[in-house]
Amino acid sequence: MTLPTGFSFTQPTTADRAEVLTYNSLVVASTHPVSDLLTLPQPYEDERAVIVRDQHGQIAAFHASYEFSQFPTPGGDIRAGGLTWVGVQPQYRRRGILRAMIAEHFRLSTQAGEAISVLFAAEPTIYGRFGYGAAAFDVRCTFGRGAALRPLTPTTPTSLQEHASSTHEPLTIRIETYDPTQHTQLIETVHKAAGRNVGGTGLNRPGWVTRDTPALVAAHHHTISLTPGKEPQRIIVVERNGTPVGYTRFRRTMSWQNTGPQGRVDAGEVVALDPAASHTLWTTLLDLDLTSEVTAFMLPTDDPIITQLNNNRSIGMTVVDNVWVRILDLPAALSARQYSGSIDLVLEVTDDMLPHNAGCWRVRAQPFGGPHGHDAPRVERTDAPADVTLDIRELSALYLGGVSAASLAAGGLVTADTPQALAQLSSAMAWPLAPCSSWVF
Ligand SMILES: CC(C)(COP(=O)(O)OP(=O)(O)OC[C@H]1O[C@@H](n2cnc3c(N)ncnc32)[C@H](O)[C@@H]1OP(=O)(O)O)[C@@H](O)C(=O)NCCC(=O)NCCS
Repeated sequence: MTLPTGFSFTQPTTADRAEVLTYNSLVVASTHPVSDLLTLPQPYEDERAVIVRDQHGQIAAFHASYEFSQFPTPGGDIRAGGLTWVGVQPQYRRRGILRAMIAEHFRLSTQAGEAISVLFAAEPTIYGRFGYGAAAFDVRCTFGRGAALRPLTPTTPTSLQEHASSTHEPLTIRIETYDPTQHTQLIETVHKAAGRNVGGTGLNRPGWVTRDTPALVAAHHHTISLTPGKEPQRIIVVERNGTPVGYTRFRRTMSWQNTGPQGRVDAGEVVALDPAASHTLWTTLLDLDLTSEVTAFMLPTDDPIITQLNNNRSIGMTVVDNVWVRILDLPAALSARQYSGSIDLVLEVTDDMLPHNAGCWRVRAQPFGGPHGHDAPRVERTDAPADVTLDIRELSALYLGGVSAASLAAGGLVTADTPQALAQLSSAMAWPLAPCSSWVF
């Protein structure tokens, strides 16, 4: 898993930026001039990026990783490396450069104390061979203008009961042009809170990764547009007593037809902290004048809007893989989450690339215990016979709680000694809320 002869790893500096973007434009078929791309804030940090140079000193390949110091797991969080900007110059493909870059990424992430690696896959056929499993899915939705929502019931989620009076305060909305100086902190604060306490349920959403580095915040919050002809980004902010409790950024594309205006609204994250805020946000977004259609880029597969709609068959929905996970340090990863049911099982794991994960592991945990303190899960090596046998790719797919071990077994990807062991693993590793990242990294 080393680079082919003549190629070497180097770390970029800011002086390499134009060269990196020129190389990357060739890899991803970018239509933008490099001079325009150079005006965009760079999301990755040079210290976490790797250039592969060929024998002539030209860039042959590149990858970087984001430092996610609190990547949400079921009921907890973990240090994760977010693999990104992966590419190989077309003339050097299929000679093992990606494989060598993945091994280097695993080495660097492990050195940084990251127990898992996570990514979004450009093509879903690439990463399984390296032990990544598709661990989260999202739904891309198209709504008709004015799609009606069921009325909000007066019940209040448990974790909000102590704040019930405040959640019954009236909500106000602001619709304005998005301005990073005004809206960055608002968005990031609501986004983080929404992942930790989904809709006021008190439960977190695994995979709901936050933009924790200054570079990621800068790359996510700017108004430079390389696509002419689109309106500037707008934002809907829902507030309660002047405190933001929901937001979405959107752009409209107008289309004037003889039958009337048929504009389209393209929304980014649609994020709210409680049911009333969500109801107000969606009702506003779905009824903007001069439009007939609303698309929401990525929503969790269990986003409340899907059940809140009167007629959810009217939505166009496409389910797509979201975050892929690769467990790098098995005991650290399996200890850094909660389990939804009690578990005491021996898992026999195969792992070709990282043999320290391979072998039999006894996993013990109490429902919703830990992940820290006296009721933390225990994950230890054992010589005891296996209850369940699976590859690291499948264990990684189960990790965020959105994929069922039983469904993988039904597909021949997991083998269990007894149906009870399979049921125990499936229920314990599941999580009440579907994992999802709201943005592509
Ligand atoms: C995808 C890409 C990085 C692969 O690089 P590469 O150096 O050709 O890959 P390698 O030679 O190391 O191949 C490793 C394995 O992956 C497989 N593979 C590589 N690219 C693949 C693809 N697009 N689809 C399916 N399998 C692929 C190879 O067949 C090889 O399989 P094997 O080990 O079982 O024989 C490169 O083709 C590329 O830059 N593509 C465009 C940008 C892109 O898609 N980046 C990914 C962003 S998430």
